[in-house]
Amino acid sequence: SPRELTVSVDDDRFDVPRAYFADADVWRRELEAVFRHAWLLIGHESEVPAPGDYVTRRMGLDEVVLVRSEAGELHVLLNSCTHRGTLLCKADVGNTSHFRCGYHGWTFGNDGTLRGVPRGRELYGKDFDKSQLGLRAARVDSFHGLVFATFDQELCSLPDYLGPMAFYLECILGVSPAGTDAPYGSFRFTHLGNWKLEADNLAGDGYHLRHAHRAGFEMGLMGAQAGSVEGVCVQFEHGHALRAQRTATDAEEQAFPGYPEDRWPEIATQLSPEQARMFAHSTVMHGLVFPNMAFVHTPRAGGFDDGEVDAAMMQVRLFNPLGPDETEELNWLVTPRDYPEDWKLSAFKTMQRQHGATAFFESDDLENFRRMLQVNGGRETNRLVPANFDLARDVAPFTPWFDGPGNVVGADVSEVNQRWFYRHYLEMMGADA
Ligand code: FES
Ligand code: FE
Repeated sequence: SPRELTVSVDDDRFDVPRAYFADADVWRRELEAVFRHAWLLIGHESEVPAPGDYVTRRMGLDEVVLVRSEAGELHVLLNSCTHRGTLLCKADVGNTSHFRCGYHGWTFGNDGTLRGVPRGRELYGKDFDKSQLGLRAARVDSFHGLVFATFDQELCSLPDYLGPMAFYLECILGVSPAGTDAPYGSFRFTHLGNWKLEADNLAGDGYHLRHAHRAGFEMGLMGAQAGSVEGVCVQFEHGHALRAQRTATDAEEQAFPGYPEDRWPEIATQLSPEQARMFAHSTVMHGLVFPNMAFVHTPRAGGFDDGEVDAAMMQVRLFNPLGPDETEELNWLVTPRDYPEDWKLSAFKTMQRQHGATAFFESDDLENFRRMLQVNGGRETNRLVPANFDLARDVAPFTPWFDGPGNVVGADVSEVNQRWFYRHYLEMMGADA
């Protein structure tokens, strides 16, 4: 049972050596030891709605194509021609029945099968077996519209990988029987900083909010979160973690702030009674699906009284390490598919103000991540100043208002989740944690 997971609080210090944020050998090892053995977020189904639709993505340094085949099935294929290995699809997004390599012209169907080899019979002979030379495919599965993939054949199924984290993700992604949508597509940018800083930040860093993001709070950009002081940090198997804050809602009330009131009865039936109760009390949530997917959910924008719908916002993020000091980030606004356009637009504006590429909260965080790089090269700095995660060592299970699954500790501001993330990470890296 996930309840049996415990976070040890008896070490003297919880330091992560600076080399883990700076060293190219560590980064190369991560790609093999961590990213190879995880379900990685690829995109949202609504990005590829029709047969032939594709987007190009990365899993670590592996270039892949997420494509919907003629048969309507989703495939995640290595974007590398099986002849000499050249990058096959060069566009970010498009629609095609076939991918034709620019080098010698091999042609692959949008399900990855090798269909055409120029002068194949003549040059390779008639026994040439094209079936062995299709594009290399990952395992693919979806969760409420989010598409995940892995090349690890031994890894458990996606539902098992998410485990009880699904209980919380469903509260946000499962509110409408119509499913989810990513109505504004994906946003992609790169920033200078190690990917783990973003992972540990979004896993549960409630500590930096009032400091790094003070200006945003003063502008009322995080209305509901600004008033709350009660929160929990929750940890799950496979290294996932989330942080949730209590909203003002009364314990018995079935209210879903930020969602259209005429949809509240539908939300209450879509979710299990336990989910509905939990979600009504704590709609402020952010968390990490190990290793590199995060989400941020806020019940309403607050702050900007521009007479619009005040919609809840769910942002899903992906941060992919291009090197020890460079991270590629993608993010999506994810909404219920059948909600009104003005509701989706309100949520989008909230996302762009808070957590878009140039938004207040995002740029506050990225500045701090970049400042770590600036000092990484210092010899004495490396020796004397590791990253420290000692905050709130004495937290205990505490759930008077919160009874969702996972290892729940009653701490709004702590580093429990960060320690959980790094323990799991270091274990996978084979390090002596
Ligand atoms: Fe693609 Fe030769 S490398 S056809
Ligand atoms: Fe932040």
